[in-house]
Amino acid sequence: MPGIVIVGTQWGDEGKGKIVDLLAERADAVVRFQGGNNAGHTIVRDGEEFKLHLIPSGILYRGVTCIIGNGVVVDPAVLISELDGLRRRGVDVTGVKLSANAHVIMPYHVMLDSAGEAKLGKLAIGTTKRGIGPCYADKAARLGIRVQDLLDPKILRKKILAALEPKKQMLRPFARDPRLDLHAIAEQYTAYGHRLEPHIADTARLCWEILDRDGLVLFEGAQAAMLDLDHGTYPFVSSSNPIAGAACVGAGVGPTDISEVWGVAKAYTTRVGAGPFPTELDDEVGKHLLTKGHEYGTTTGRERRTGWLDLVALRYAVRLNRLSALVITKLDVLAGLDPIRVAVRYRGGDGAVFDEFPYHQSILHAAEAEYDELPGFDGDIGACRDESELPQEARDYLAYIEDFVGVPIKLVGVGPGRDQIVARGEQPALLAA
Ligand code: IMP
Repeated sequence: MPGIVIVGTQWGDEGKGKIVDLLAERADAVVRFQGGNNAGHTIVRDGEEFKLHLIPSGILYRGVTCIIGNGVVVDPAVLISELDGLRRRGVDVTGVKLSANAHVIMPYHVMLDSAGEAKLGKLAIGTTKRGIGPCYADKAARLGIRVQDLLDPKILRKKILAALEPKKQMLRPFARDPRLDLHAIAEQYTAYGHRLEPHIADTARLCWEILDRDGLVLFEGAQAAMLDLDHGTYPFVSSSNPIAGAACVGAGVGPTDISEVWGVAKAYTTRVGAGPFPTELDDEVGKHLLTKGHEYGTTTGRERRTGWLDLVALRYAVRLNRLSALVITKLDVLAGLDPIRVAVRYRGGDGAVFDEFPYHQSILHAAEAEYDELPGFDGDIGACRDESELPQEARDYLAYIEDFVGVPIKLVGVGPGRDQIVARGEQPALLAA
């Protein structure tokens, strides 16, 4: 059985959680491979709502191993509170496995995230202020604290001391803040280590064992291609690689363990935080997308920026991930808009035309999207379960996207409910079973 990677193809919040949830029922393991509690997803099961930031959605299925891989940055307080919350509601969390090699978000990372944003002023990235960037920076600088360090108080203290020294310089205005006290931090994080010990494991080996016995492993991406540290709209990106290639590094498997890559895209575009957004709308249509699509962040509650579907960016994401299938979510939100527009090229500040996503930041900042117009559709499509039940205009819209980006659309979301999905075309063996 395969390894399947599921990734976001825009600026995050595409509804990956719902798709992972759908597939997780058949999986042996679901693995997070990057990001941290900057992500968030809500799962509704039998009318009960579960909000998770670190634990993969597979947790609600019995017998599914839920792995937080080495590529994730983990705030232990957040993880412990998620575990406690699930336990209180009767969910068995023994299947949650945390990589001993994952890096730990420390109090100074969270402080540095806020201080860094404040310093940037008008140029701020609009981060989630969860300490993600500073934690990855320490990982690269080899000053990081890993989950395994939490189990050895002596080593932990030494490592915190080394990491804390340069932070004190950077956080001078906070010099007397108790959150920077070595003793207090070491004590608190040792206590976290005790709490998490039953979950700490060699998670790469767990993945190999499941793949070796032909089990199904889902690799669940957080954030999305356009927030990728290398390929996204740098510097307005997150500090990890949310593209499919990173699943191997962040989980400890090889490229040949991956047999499919599914990308998730909204039928339109949203973005939280600052940075270029060529199809952004600041009008009634933008408001329609915001209110009808309930576009408010799961993690920070921020209002999302909204715009038309950007096919230039989507085709770029298709290639970065070499997608084998595409899932379009929230098609129902477009009902009532006529015409529907899709960006098919950009025009640079000097009038130059870009058919492909421009690599140069200055070009992208000045780029304006140029659109094709397609007829809109009306009415509630939330009850459709087969493509033939969708209005012709909605089907044409899907066909147009598919044709432009060159990847088959296999699933279409037509509402927030778990069953509000239209299967399209020949289904992969996994779903057909
Ligand atoms: P950070 O990941 O908190 O450092 O934030 C960097 C950028 O990524 C900001 O623009 C955030 O709004 C954005 N971002 C991070 N995580 C998510 C997410 O899960 N969905 C959408 N945007 C995100």
